[in-house]
Amino acid sequence: MTEPFDIVIFGGAGDLSFRKLIPALYRSYCEDKLPASSRVIACCRNAQEQSAYLQHADEALQEYLAEGEYRTEAAQAFIEHVYPVELDITESGAFWQTMAELLNEYRQRVRVYYLAIPPAIFGVCCQNLAKYKLVDERSRVVVEKPLGYNADTANAINEEIARYFDESAIYRIDHYLGKETVQNLMALRFTNVIFEQLWDAKSIDHVQISISETVGLEGRAGFYNEAGALRDMVQNHLLQLLCLVAMESPHKMKASSIRAEKVKVLESLRPMRGDDVKRHTVRGQYVAGNHKGKLVPGYLEELAEAQSNTETFVALRAYVDNWRWARVPFYLRTGKRMKQRCAEIVIQYKEVSHRVYDRDAGALAPNRLVIRLQPEESIQLTMMAKDLDTLDMRLQPATLNLNFSDTYKKFKSDAYKRLILDAVSANPSLFIHRDEVAHAWAWIDPIIDAWQSDAQDPHLYRAGTWGPEESDELLAEDGFKWFNAGEQ
Ligand code: BG6
Repeated sequence: MTEPFDIVIFGGAGDLSFRKLIPALYRSYCEDKLPASSRVIACCRNAQEQSAYLQHADEALQEYLAEGEYRTEAAQAFIEHVYPVELDITESGAFWQTMAELLNEYRQRVRVYYLAIPPAIFGVCCQNLAKYKLVDERSRVVVEKPLGYNADTANAINEEIARYFDESAIYRIDHYLGKETVQNLMALRFTNVIFEQLWDAKSIDHVQISISETVGLEGRAGFYNEAGALRDMVQNHLLQLLCLVAMESPHKMKASSIRAEKVKVLESLRPMRGDDVKRHTVRGQYVAGNHKGKLVPGYLEELAEAQSNTETFVALRAYVDNWRWARVPFYLRTGKRMKQRCAEIVIQYKEVSHRVYDRDAGALAPNRLVIRLQPEESIQLTMMAKDLDTLDMRLQPATLNLNFSDTYKKFKSDAYKRLILDAVSANPSLFIHRDEVAHAWAWIDPIIDAWQSDAQDPHLYRAGTWGPEESDELLAEDGFKWFNAGEQ
């Protein structure tokens, strides 16, 4: 994109804006992707927020950028693009009039409206944009999760936005799709004959997709205690990753083809109801524990409540009921306050069909492909090879390791930067279509219903561990173990 554009952040002084959006836009600036005279219009709730905004933005850059990324001169030059504006989103009147005048200084520009606000005010925000004639064929709206609380509320939100924006102008963010390795997963699958030929139930034993976090509530207690890990992480990030692993090759790398394939996967997910939910899912909640030698409070202490049934951890076994994946379990796991921060996809291949070496040569480990999204971005393939330290015929696993930070020295992954720039240049392929949201909720809702009618407390796990024992048992029942980063 070489043309200047305007991005309006509703919720400009919120956590998401300071932590993610402002740093992402700074990085865009440093890479010459914020053309001169482009504006970052940050909506503030009141005059105090507005007057302190530029200083807060600068502090946020210093705090949230990686080491060495903050440069005073660049930060100052970037901040000249930032326009804090006082706006009460729900009040149509003088505030919106001022906003309209500001935006209409450049009528021909691409405008990205970023809704970093609670979904309850998405509707009124879009309505005011339309009322002040700020929606045209060059405008797009970016919406952040959580998109609803269940299928009905998600549908209501989508309906509301659709009154003012065409589906092609709605960019629903799942920031996991902006992670470079996630895109690499598609490149790996669809450009290499060696993987795609072996990407099905004939060769693959099972798949593990884990997102473990070491953080706790991070000041979002109210939201999180209502949502829980299934809604916060599985409905979106984990199911999106599952779709990318399980989908058929799209006809072309274009949004409509990719989305169509993802929807087919979501439709093929085996529904879970009643007893299935008990058998295939584990809910957990952390209690106080240790992380890297430091005492970490339990969930209820962080929440400052005596009781909560909210899960901070989920592990589940899912099946994609189609020809390619028949009977291959997909294990999904996510949790807060776990032992390590890590997000990875593990493709566990089957054992060789016939052993040609005698037992003295050692055990044969089946091939394993690990696609790691964080903390570092890498792809590792483990295979059996001869131990070269001995003349004897001894076999041992050896790992091919493609670490992107080593290979691409200048590589700095920033999912938000990528997705914002995609929205600016009208590339929707890494965003979520309304149908995907609906299908994901259709699979998730019955799980939540079953949990609610069962009314069981979540299993407790100590902070700083890999979750409750029941999560290990889920895999042990099938003869497997979780692949825990750094413990192989
Ligand atoms: C968000 C969730 O979508 O993703 C948070 O709401 C979670 O609870 C975050 O911490 C994890 O993102 P990342 O990129 O840090 O793994």
